[in-house]
Amino acid sequence: MYICKNCGYRSARWLGRCPSCGQWDTFVLESEEHEASASRVPRPVRISDMRPSAPAIRYASGIEEWDRVLGGGLVSGSLVILGGDPGIGKSTLALQVSAGTGRKVLYVAAEEAPSQVVERARRLGIGSANIHIVSEYSVDAVARLLEGEFFELVVVDSIQMMKVDANPSYPGSVSQVRDATLLLQEVARRKNIAFLIIGHVTKSGEIAGPRTMEHMVDVVLYLEGDRKTDLRILRAYKNRYGSTDEIGLFVMGERGLHPVEDPHRLFVSPGRGPRVGVARSVVMEGRRTIPLEVQALAVRTYYAAPMRNTTGYDVRRLNMLLAVLEKHARIRLRNHDIFVNIVGGLKVSDWAVDSAVLMAIVSAFRGFPLDPDAVFIGEVGLTGDILPAPSMEMRTKEAMRMGIKNIYANAEEGAFGGGGIKILKVTNIGELLSVCLE
Ligand code: TYD
Ligand code: MG
Repeated sequence: MYICKNCGYRSARWLGRCPSCGQWDTFVLESEEHEASASRVPRPVRISDMRPSAPAIRYASGIEEWDRVLGGGLVSGSLVILGGDPGIGKSTLALQVSAGTGRKVLYVAAEEAPSQVVERARRLGIGSANIHIVSEYSVDAVARLLEGEFFELVVVDSIQMMKVDANPSYPGSVSQVRDATLLLQEVARRKNIAFLIIGHVTKSGEIAGPRTMEHMVDVVLYLEGDRKTDLRILRAYKNRYGSTDEIGLFVMGERGLHPVEDPHRLFVSPGRGPRVGVARSVVMEGRRTIPLEVQALAVRTYYAAPMRNTTGYDVRRLNMLLAVLEKHARIRLRNHDIFVNIVGGLKVSDWAVDSAVLMAIVSAFRGFPLDPDAVFIGEVGLTGDILPAPSMEMRTKEAMRMGIKNIYANAEEGAFGGGGIKILKVTNIGELLSVCLE
């Protein structure tokens, strides 16, 4: 038997390239491999004697929402996966980013005809001479192309359509996606090329192919959004070169994805007067402040177990808030169905929105509108306490931009105020309810 020195794959005959790990010239007779490893002694090197690898180059695209999520742009020699539902806008974003970098780009179109890519580019107003298109589904052929000509950035659209020649299984299968990624990774590292790989997401919400693919790449991005609305959210789930807290906000328009500069208009419905079951907040997603509107509905239930339904807010978190309301404020909602909706389609991960959710529910339950010029900021603890929120200064600034007059939060009055905005300090839900509902 022959064995691959790299991954241990066994084959009855010698192979030039390992079908499992994609490495070239790694096959040796199993007996040789045993001999070699039996006598091999690894040699440690002092850190001070090692030369750092060549500094990575950042390819900023000038698309601020993209660059920020990546931590400054694509990095040479790395693999970035851009996942998302079919039709969400991955190819569009990849093309806009490619044009934005101004680098020498190879666009590997495995899914569409080059003419379709060109047509999309026209629609986006991209006439860049820096983007080269090739229609190809063989990873080996792409690797050979990159052996002969240098490109700074390579877009692969999509990984599910790519095929490694030595692997007999269908494109899109687990082993095919794994082998293709491994081969691309090897090329990326050796040639110092930045790869942007597009992957479709399965119904279960993962990039088709093995979960291990996410371990193999350096950055995992998802483009999310409801196809019924035009909001698109770019999120990093893994980022070897930056934080995973940042989000990018886009709107899909007639000519591609546009950055959202004024999130206020997206997430807060325009009507201003007092409304029952509506409360506003300012959340932080990474370094970004986002004004939000929470809507709640409370109706007497017809079921033995009342319904708890949320959009954009964790339903277990809602159950916790209802328990806190019952225990610490004696507001019992066990006979009511409760619905909570975060307007605009954002999934909130900043628990400082809790107090707004809580107030929207109480407002809906009591049929009592809240102060329309107020925002509620602060995580609600199991003890009924309202916790001080981080980044209050940035949130206050955003609230001012929204024209808010009162901020209910666990923060000192005057600390971040001024400019006509008032901070009303509340340390627990009892205090919050009494100042709002008095
Ligand atoms: P696409 O980038 O092809 O999605 P994916 O690669 O994720 O499958 O874009 C899909 C949708 O976006 C398509 O239905 C058309 C729409 N679209 C626009 O609304 N505006 C545009 O400028 C472009 C290029 C596409
Ligand atoms: Mg596409």
